[in-house]
Parts: sequence; C-alpha cells; structure tokens
Amino acid sequence: MGILFAGPQLEFEQIREQWLAAVQQVAARGVFVGGQAVTDFEAAFARYSGSASAAGVGNGTDALFLTLKALGVGPGDEVVTAVNTFVATVEAIHHTGATPVLVDCDPDSYLIDAEQLIAKLSSRTKAIIPVHLYGQMVDMSPWLSIARARGIAVVEDSAQAAGARLEGKPAGSVGGAGCFSFYPDKNLGALGDGGAVVSSDESLLAKVRRLRNHGGETRYSHDSPGYNSRLDALQALALSMKLERLDEWSAHRRQVANCYERHLADIEGVVLPAHRHDESHVFHLYVVRLPAEARENVRRSLQKKGILTAVQYPLPIHQLPAFRHLGYGAGDFPIAEFCSQRIVSLPMHIGMDEEAVAEVATQVKNALTLKPAKINGG
Ligand SMILES: Cc1ncc(COP(=O)(O)O)c(C=O)c1O
Repeated sequence: MGILFAGPQLEFEQIREQWLAAVQQVAARGVFVGGQAVTDFEAAFARYSGSASAAGVGNGTDALFLTLKALGVGPGDEVVTAVNTFVATVEAIHHTGATPVLVDCDPDSYLIDAEQLIAKLSSRTKAIIPVHLYGQMVDMSPWLSIARARGIAVVEDSAQAAGARLEGKPAGSVGGAGCFSFYPDKNLGALGDGGAVVSSDESLLAKVRRLRNHGGETRYSHDSPGYNSRLDALQALALSMKLERLDEWSAHRRQVANCYERHLADIEGVVLPAHRHDESHVFHLYVVRLPAEARENVRRSLQKKGILTAVQYPLPIHQLPAFRHLGYGAGDFPIAEFCSQRIVSLPMHIGMDEEAVAEVATQVKNALTLKPAKINGG
C-alpha cells in the first residue's frame, strides 16, 4: 500500500452518485457545451470568488491568454511575471505577441519578489501576472497601487489557488481579473480540462466571452476573430458539486500542512515553506527544500516505499528550451535556480491523515540519514 501524490479520484468518490444522476439529466436535454449547467456554475463561482462575474473557458492556459487578449495585450507590450511558474503562464503571454519579463522569487515562500517586480516595470509594461504558486496568494500590496497609477493591468494566475483568501479577499478578486485552471488535480478540479476568468470588470468579461466563442456571444454573430475555448456542461456539473466542498477540503489541506510542519520540523536538511498560517494558503502543493545532492535519492527511496513525490518545477522558465530566445542566462535568477535544484513536493490531498504524514516524514528522515548504499540494499 502506497501513498498517492494527489487525490482527484478520492474527490470523485464524494460526488460520484450526484454527478452521474446530473449527467443523465443533461444528456436527456442534449446540451453538452455551455447551457444552464455552465451558467449556474459561473454564477456560483463568481459569488465564491468575490467577483461580479465569471466566464468558463476550456482550460487555465486559455483563461490567461484570453484575458490578456481582452486587455489588448499584443506585440510591443511587456508582461511581467514570475520565473518560477508552470510554463502555461508564460506561454499565454508569448502567444499574444507580447514579451514576457521574468522576475525572481522569494527564497522562503517561492512567491514573486515584490521589490524586483517593481524594478522590472517599464513604460512598455501592459500587465502584471502574479502567480499564486503552490496555492499561496501573493501579497500584492507593495505594488498594486503603483500598477493602478500607471494603468498596468493585474491578472492573477490563480490556477493553483482556488479557495485561498488573503485578508478576506478571494484569489482572483484583488487585481483586475483572476484566471483559474480546473485541471483534475487542482484544488477545484474538473473531470477533464476546464478553466475560468473572474472579474468585476463586466466589459472585460464580455470580451472574454466573445473571444472564447468565435468572436461572438450568440451563434453566428462574429464581431471579431475569436477562438473556441468553452467549458462543457459535464465539467460544470462536477465543478458546482466540488465547489460546495472546497472550503472543507482547503481546511483539510491546511491541517495536513500543519501536520507536516510538526513531523518534519526536527529533520536536519529539510526546509519548510514559509506562509502566513491563515487562509491565504490552500496548499495545492506541499513543497519542502532538501540538500541538492540528496533530493533524487530521497525521492527514489520514497518511491520504493510507494510514496510518490514530484518536482514543481525542475527548471525555471528561462532555462526551458521554449523560452531561451528571451535571452536570459544562467545566474540571472539565482533564487529560482537554487530552489529548482532542491524543492520536492510531498503527497498532499484530501485523503492524507496524520498517519500518512508521519510515514512520509519517517521515510524522508531515513533517506536523509541512511547512506545511499544502505538504502539501495548494498
Ligand atoms: C500556475 C499555473 N498557471 C496556469 C496553468 C494552466 O492551466 P491548464 O493546465 O488548465 O491550462 C496551470 C496548470 O497547471 C498552473 O499551475
């Protein structure tokens, strides 16, 4: 018996009967893309996210891309974002024709460094994308008023942070727009791909709605060339059902994180993540730092015990072949480069309990203290 890394299948068990019954009703109506199930979810998600409206889209990458397009971001513009993010954040910028401008992270929280972000703003900056990485919200207060004063849009990449609230404000409601991914292992995950944009700027969301549907809000009206990126009804049903459980699941994830903190605290070589110990972190991932030379050995040892881990992400954006053309080099983002060689994500999901956390911690400790030869049975 092992320990799962993430638990979308456990979440499905909680909605299985309710969802299957609802699917039958949708199937009987024959509306599989858009329709009432989607508008109901959009209304519930907007309310939950503290925003006036939400627009369901095909995935989180499109949520970012369509929002940037709706803001008029394009060639000649710069968009400032974190160097340590999932590639999708930067792909979305790239495909608008704008230039991604990357910023290093804080070594303790892994979130975008506020001072360096401010230093990277220029007369060409059209938008900032703070990434609420691993489920922890970026505190935007050091630079939000600067962005507003300069007319720079703020688009929160909230793909990993559904359910997080910083000083009572939900992820996605602090800047001008929030972009979510409902990829199955996200904190609010669909049973396939899905995404949403939330905003209180109705005209921005109206543009996103046109762009997601071939440039028109109604069938065969095409005001401008658009795209096809819609949320389907079966995903919307699952998302509405899971949304009702999201706060309970986020609380569970925070408890698991507290548990990790207790069990890992005294293990030499393990650096725990910094956070505010409030609702601003929903622990999409529980990421610790290990000595670089020990990481792969620890991961292998855990895997042998059936404990799955991951590295999010092995290379910062500037070191990916896809973005070498941006012209950054080794050493340009020393913190992200340092962390990428040391971070490891431990199992985190709604099925974790104290016993599972204790087992992970024991195995991490053993792997760090036993010599590799012994672990390999030699
Ligand atoms: C930070 C971040 N941004 C954007 C995305 C893109 O979301 P999707 O996979 O739904 O396109 C993800 C998803 O993995 C993500 O983690």
